[in-house]
Amino acid sequence: MADKYTQLVSHGLGKDVAKRLGLPQPVVLRRYQPGDPLITGPVLVNGDSVGADDLATTLLGWGLDVRRNALPKEKLGAIILVLDSVQHPDDLGKPVLAIGASLRDLAPNGRVITVSRAPRQAPSPAVAAARQGIDGLLRSLAKELRSGATANGILLSEDLATTSPSVLGALRFFLSGRSAYVDGQFLTVGTDSGSLPADPDRPLAGKVAVVTGAARGIGAAIARTLHRDGATVVSVDIPAAGDHLAAVANEVHGTALQLDISRSDAGQRIIDHAVERHGRLDIVVHNAGITRDRLLANMDPGRWQSVIAVNIASQLRINEALLGSPHFKDAPRIVSVASTSGIAGNRGQTNYGASKGGVIGMVRSTAPLMESFGGTINAVAPGFIETEMTARMPLAIRETARRLNSLKQGGQPGDVAEAIAFLASDAAGGISGEVLRVCGQQLVGA
Ligand code: NAI
Repeated sequence: MADKYTQLVSHGLGKDVAKRLGLPQPVVLRRYQPGDPLITGPVLVNGDSVGADDLATTLLGWGLDVRRNALPKEKLGAIILVLDSVQHPDDLGKPVLAIGASLRDLAPNGRVITVSRAPRQAPSPAVAAARQGIDGLLRSLAKELRSGATANGILLSEDLATTSPSVLGALRFFLSGRSAYVDGQFLTVGTDSGSLPADPDRPLAGKVAVVTGAARGIGAAIARTLHRDGATVVSVDIPAAGDHLAAVANEVHGTALQLDISRSDAGQRIIDHAVERHGRLDIVVHNAGITRDRLLANMDPGRWQSVIAVNIASQLRINEALLGSPHFKDAPRIVSVASTSGIAGNRGQTNYGASKGGVIGMVRSTAPLMESFGGTINAVAPGFIETEMTARMPLAIRETARRLNSLKQGGQPGDVAEAIAFLASDAAGGISGEVLRVCGQQLVGA
């Protein structure tokens, strides 16, 4: 779905007019294409801890143009602020003000990334205050950046090195065009499991992935992205979507499975199809979802039940089958599509909010159950994404929803797919039970 306004004000006369009238000025975001460099321009690594030194050395090894101090007037591709050893809020001022002075030199579509430790595990109130302070400063900074630049953070568990695989995996994701529409967000890395791919352009080579609701919209984009990244994809959708489903399955050289995911045997049918047709099952993406909006005062049991049945009850039942299967034990991945409606709420969506909040609760509670066999489960919560669903919104509501985020535009289905592909990869092996918002840092609500 096109956002013609963004194209119009990105250059030339349209850009000048929008500037003069004080209209929103979204830019065309840098989105990943295979073969793209991770980031263009020098990367400033700020911080004086051992963790900062180690990270700078690793980035040099990747062939990046690393700086430990900014040079005057030099355009920077990214600024990485390593704050892994802060002990008190007083420790924040010096490094934070130092990067503040470099922000004017951040290139369009540049990146600011903090690397710090999880506040909940802090050994004292002062350490917790310093760590939680990074949360507030990063989210505020993300709202100050312009021209498609984003700010995101990586949170490390207590003893984790800044160079452990999933920290580097998350860093690559945030630096690259794969995270174009992720802004003002944190990813927590809990363990040092996981590994970086041999070929960064094919991180899912050899994996077999199932995507539900793949006949159109975000699901079709997920199928395409997982295929591009090297996976063999099983596309699942309801029988009524058969033609579209077959077209997507053919396009990604995979197989189609016509299945209503709310059937009681859906989990077993998914496992059987993947194993019989492709010999294994590594990744399940729970994307299929429906809306049946009504104010609660007007809600009928049918609308309530159908949304709960498709959006969360089916995922719970399929996961039960997956967790009980011997075919889903080799460091498998589950990624669920939630929604910012399940976090911040949305008028007319009590049923949908309950279902998507349910997805988040399910993900957090299932994560420990998958740990013993190296499995992970995470959720991605999209904000306003340009799909058939959002194209049907009334114009004024659509335009408002589309612009009310730090990037002043809606996301593309591919943006959600990129986050899912990352969480499904070996590089994200240390990340589990997390919810990553792909919402351009929505300004309303949480
Ligand atoms: P869509 O309506 O375009 O596609 C959903 C797909 O799921 C359809 O192909 C449909 O046939 C399939 N599906 C529905 N019920 C099914 C069932 N019982 N069994 C198998 N397949 C079924 O929706 P869209 O926009 O692509 O959304 C995909 C996911 O992203 C959903 O979970 C939605 O809640 C979520 N989402 C979308 C946002 C947006 O802005 N479009 C924002 C936040 C979340």
